[in-house]
Amino acid sequence: MLASGTGTVLGAIIERGPPVALVVTDRPCPALDVAAAAGIPAVEISRRDFGYRAGTDWDRRGFTLAVDAALGAARIDLVAMAGFFTILHPVIFERYRGRILNTHPALLPAFKGAHAVQDTLAAGVPVTGPTIHVATEVLDDERQILAQSPCVPVLPGDDEAALWERIKAEERRLYPQVLWDVVNGKIDLEV
Ligand code: GRF
Repeated sequence: MLASGTGTVLGAIIERGPPVALVVTDRPCPALDVAAAAGIPAVEISRRDFGYRAGTDWDRRGFTLAVDAALGAARIDLVAMAGFFTILHPVIFERYRGRILNTHPALLPAFKGAHAVQDTLAAGVPVTGPTIHVATEVLDDERQILAQSPCVPVLPGDDEAALWERIKAEERRLYPQVLWDVVNGKIDLEV
């Protein structure tokens, strides 16, 4: 699992999804505590150690290769991103083509990018929900959507935090189920 944030989706997967062998984060974050509390090995590979500063060039490839090495050492064959806030260098998709999944808090192909929930609110659409998809080097790629849940109403008076929390509640239900379906062969990944 790759995570950067509060790790509530990660926690749901640990609780209800298939076994998680390793958690990798790109920064100090509560997701590390979620892994520790569950007794799952976790490693922080800080993108700052690869020169990351917002808005500047940095060694994205070196960072991605370090993530790749950690996954390889743990013999990971399926990677799930749950709120991982770094765009990985394409090099990782050479090894894990079709085997890196992601959850996005909008109905792809609508509202790609880091401000999906904010953009959903600004657009004034009545309903939203998460998308579980196969990640590629194309950001928020919609070509292989595994599950989508258009079941979260946008309510009058919603702000980004309130709407996002309701979307995350659905992600915490849907993502563990999708991962089980992949592991059990009910969903066939094109690799
Ligand atoms: C999720 O909404 C995911 O789609 C987005 O980041 C959020 C992760 O939430 N990319 P959490 O850190 O698991 O609470």
